[in-house]
Amino acid sequence: MKPKDTTFIISGGVSGLGFETARQLHDAGAYVLLLDMNAELGAEVIKTLGSQRAKFVETDVTETSSIQAAIDAGVDWVKTTGKPFGGIVAAAGVGLPAKLYNSREKAPAPMAHIDFVLNVNIRGTLDLIRLGLPHLIKNEPFTEDGERGVLILVSSSAAFDGQPGQVAYSASKGAIASLTLPLSRDLAMYGIRAVTIAPSLFESNMTKHMSDRTRKSLERVMEFPRRSGRPEEFAQLVMSSIENPMLNGTVIRLDGAMRMPSRL
Ligand SMILES: NC(=O)c1ccc[n+]([C@@H]2O[C@H](COP(=O)([O-])OP(=O)(O)OC[C@H]3O[C@@H](n4cnc5c(N)ncnc54)[C@H](O)[C@@H]3O)[C@@H](O)[C@H]2O)c1
Repeated sequence: MKPKDTTFIISGGVSGLGFETARQLHDAGAYVLLLDMNAELGAEVIKTLGSQRAKFVETDVTETSSIQAAIDAGVDWVKTTGKPFGGIVAAAGVGLPAKLYNSREKAPAPMAHIDFVLNVNIRGTLDLIRLGLPHLIKNEPFTEDGERGVLILVSSSAAFDGQPGQVAYSASKGAIASLTLPLSRDLAMYGIRAVTIAPSLFESNMTKHMSDRTRKSLERVMEFPRRSGRPEEFAQLVMSSIENPMLNGTVIRLDGAMRMPSRL
């Protein structure tokens, strides 16, 4: 389907990979509903994109009521614009490295820490999709195939080759990779596709503060190109995934053949 004249919901849409996706969708003529906790960046992004086809709603994806309020605001917006929801890009995510057993403190990682990562990355993704789906299902088909919408999920290289300290993050991103096929099977009858992208190291606010040691360990094992991915390269794949109806129920690694090493 073409995103032009439809409304895309993008969680994590004011920073990094989510923001660049919002920008490319906006450039392609889509309306973008940006859900994020970061209100300061949200205001900046609306300044950049303008308020005609972009709307920010401060949202915490770990709270069902917060997502519901954002979707409700989106439904009101769609009523005024007449541009139906076309899909969801669930890009909100957190990475909080910690070993399951902290040898310096001689203690297991706090469960709150693990819950936080799983809640944002898994619960936040599923809850957003769950609450957005009814609005896609009732769409008139956009294409001859009967397509009613597209879901783009974000996994990670850590789903396959997580590094030390990435147990919780890898578990969360592995879950996203695993649920992609059954999600697309559940939604096939409605003409809704699900595609998951698994990036390696990409430039964003999340990776900006990475230690030199970790960054170097990753750069050492890069194949080609020997650099971090750029948000626009991620967004380019989102755009292709939206437009190409044969991409469904799959996890696409976007990593320049890099496999993350065990040792930092
Ligand atoms: N950058 C990378 O190297 C990389 C690699 C693999 C996967 N990813 C994944 O890509 C996605 C985007 O990450 P990014 O690199 O652009 O990071 P980022 O930090 O630039 O953006 C993530 C956004 O998610 C928002 N967010 C976090 N928790 C939230 C919550 N509870 N409710 C609403 N919004 C919340 C943040 O405010 C932020 O704006 C994440 O799922 C991340 O795990 C990133």
